[in-house]
Amino acid sequence: MYIIGFSGSPRLNGICSRLMQSALDGALQQGADVKRYDLIKLDIKHCLGCCQCIFDDPQLPVGRCPLKDDMAAVLEDYMLADGYIFACPVYHGTVTALMKKFIERKFGLSWRAPEAAGKLPESRVPADFKKKAIMIATGNSPDEFVEVMGDPCFEVMSSDWMVEQVETVGKMYVGGVETLSPTDTEDRLKKSFDAGSHLVEAIRKDL
Ligand SMILES: Cc1cc2nc3c(=O)[nH]c(=O)nc-3n(C[C@H](O)[C@H](O)[C@H](O)COP(=O)(O)O)c2cc1C
Repeated sequence: MYIIGFSGSPRLNGICSRLMQSALDGALQQGADVKRYDLIKLDIKHCLGCCQCIFDDPQLPVGRCPLKDDMAAVLEDYMLADGYIFACPVYHGTVTALMKKFIERKFGLSWRAPEAAGKLPESRVPADFKKKAIMIATGNSPDEFVEVMGDPCFEVMSSDWMVEQVETVGKMYVGGVETLSPTDTEDRLKKSFDAGSHLVEAIRKDL
């Protein structure tokens, strides 16, 4: 089993990065192969809105994008995974620009017939595609602000998953990160480890 983590934090040693690593460690402990992508380290250009990717040959697993950067290789790897861990800090009530840019560039995983204007794109993947995912969002606003800070991030991060046929099996908002005590930090890292472990168990159940 292969699990990939994507972090949308520009800070490589911040709490978001640590929480994602902890979730990956939980998956690893369950026997999964894991890999992490820190989006800040990748060359991902802005989507230019040409839509060539979604109209590209439906037989292709990923529609081709004219932009030349790291995204084609990342999406090839993305297709190989059984599960995902998406982690992102809240910036101005939603995901970071880094994460948003990545989500936009995943458009080529969907397909739409040129004549199907006004209709939703379809999945390029076969019907037995059984992927699952968990999401982590971090913010300075305390935990009780999950609806205004965490939920908008979860919505963006999972926005393509209905088409991609990816099921969300866990969401975790970690608030008040500026003032988290060492004990609370350990507690959140443990919860994130358990969420990673649960992700693997949930996938295994469906295999
Ligand atoms: C530009 C910017 C905007 C932010 N906006 C919010 C916000 O709207 N709500 C919130 O709770 N925290 C906000 N924060 C705090 C970040 O969410 C927090 O620093 C981050 O979750 C910590 O994760 P990191 O250690 O990976 O950087 C913001 C931080 C920055 C730098």
